[in-house]
Amino acid sequence: MDHFTYKNGLLHAEDVAIADIAATVGTPFYVYSTATLTRHYTLFTEALSPLPHQVCFAIKSLSNIAVLKTLGDLGAGMDVVSIGEYHRARAAGIPGDRIVFSGVGKTRDEMRVALTGGIRQVNVESEPELRALSEVAVSLGVTVPITIRVNPDVDAKTHEKIATGKKDNKFGIPISRASAVYAEAAALPSLDIVGIDVHIGSQLTDLAPFEQAYLMVADLTRRLRTEGHDIRRLDLGGGLGIPYTRSNDAPPLPLDYGALIKRTVGDLGCEIEIEPGRLISGNAGLLVAGVIYVKQGEGRDFLILDAAMNDLIRPAMYGAHHDIIPVIEPAAGVEQHPFDIVGPVCESGDTFAKSRPMPPLAEGELVAFRSAGAYGAVMASEYNSRPLIPEVLVHGDQFAVIRERPTFDEILKRDTLPIWL
Ligand code: LLP
Repeated sequence: MDHFTYKNGLLHAEDVAIADIAATVGTPFYVYSTATLTRHYTLFTEALSPLPHQVCFAIKSLSNIAVLKTLGDLGAGMDVVSIGEYHRARAAGIPGDRIVFSGVGKTRDEMRVALTGGIRQVNVESEPELRALSEVAVSLGVTVPITIRVNPDVDAKTHEKIATGKKDNKFGIPISRASAVYAEAAALPSLDIVGIDVHIGSQLTDLAPFEQAYLMVADLTRRLRTEGHDIRRLDLGGGLGIPYTRSNDAPPLPLDYGALIKRTVGDLGCEIEIEPGRLISGNAGLLVAGVIYVKQGEGRDFLILDAAMNDLIRPAMYGAHHDIIPVIEPAAGVEQHPFDIVGPVCESGDTFAKSRPMPPLAEGELVAFRSAGAYGAVMASEYNSRPLIPEVLVHGDQFAVIRERPTFDEILKRDTLPIWL
């Protein structure tokens, strides 16, 4: 469910007309709904209650500081995978003891910043990282809480580029080696083993792979405890999928996911952590674009938008589907016509949809990409020297620009000329 609906024939974000935002900030832009972010976060906390738990929002999906503060004010922790994301979380007022540091390639410099600033735990992904982290902690004179991410070799049945729990993926340590790695961790100075971490992939639309992985984590918890480790926290990762079409897909709900967690690991007396990104942010955002031209091709017609692959890379990168709807509600029963929906970038990969049935649209009219809150703005680039587009946050009948569109002056002055030019 989200808060983007037609009211009196006009698409709204909560109580704000999308056309009013467009008139103020220009197109294209991203817009997020506070009510939807809040609802999705709350669904998880309700689903995990009464287990002791901490929901850590995966910042990688949507990292605007205003969004992080919205969630942080509700009690959310954050899952960060770079020190840049750590700085964002801190700038949003999230205390260090609610920030989890994940990722396969944390550098010593990044570790130093996180350990100095405060961290809930570091999720370690390899033996060399374990040793590096121990060295850094010793040098700072602190003890760092850790989990070790295990790779359960489970098929998450999702797009191959976002599956992370198979043994040929770069993530985690093979679960078969867990005893040895935990023993090494226990012997290293300044590390405090608090638990186990697992994350098998993103956009999972079936609970079975989660169940498989979590049962393995439950077994591992019991085994590591008999080996003397005080396993008291389980980080179960993110990955719960969202519906990308209004009609035909209905992935499991957070409530079902919570019930699965209780069934598989609920009796272990552990604090449960999860790291959802997409389910919280995905359907809380739209990408709004204007139609530049309606162009007749040979045997196909093109809708050329002012948004492009640099603004939303998911269709080009993963062949992802996003529903695209007109901002003015089409009259009931209006005839639809198939369009290839494209951006202005100079490659054919800059195609959002092929032969997509759309109601009649004219130059200057607005369309909205649904489910664009997650992995939209955060994956944008300035390819073709197109400025990063603004982000807007709606709250009831108010809206605010939470990231400005940069001016060309600002963009150009980042380049500098060497002395010989
Ligand atoms: N935790 C870890 C360790 C992760 O690697 C990820 C996502 C998450 C949590 C959050 O997963 P989520 O709940 O959002 O599924 N750019 C891709 C998605 C990449 C996901 C990477 N890791 C896309 O646009 O589909």
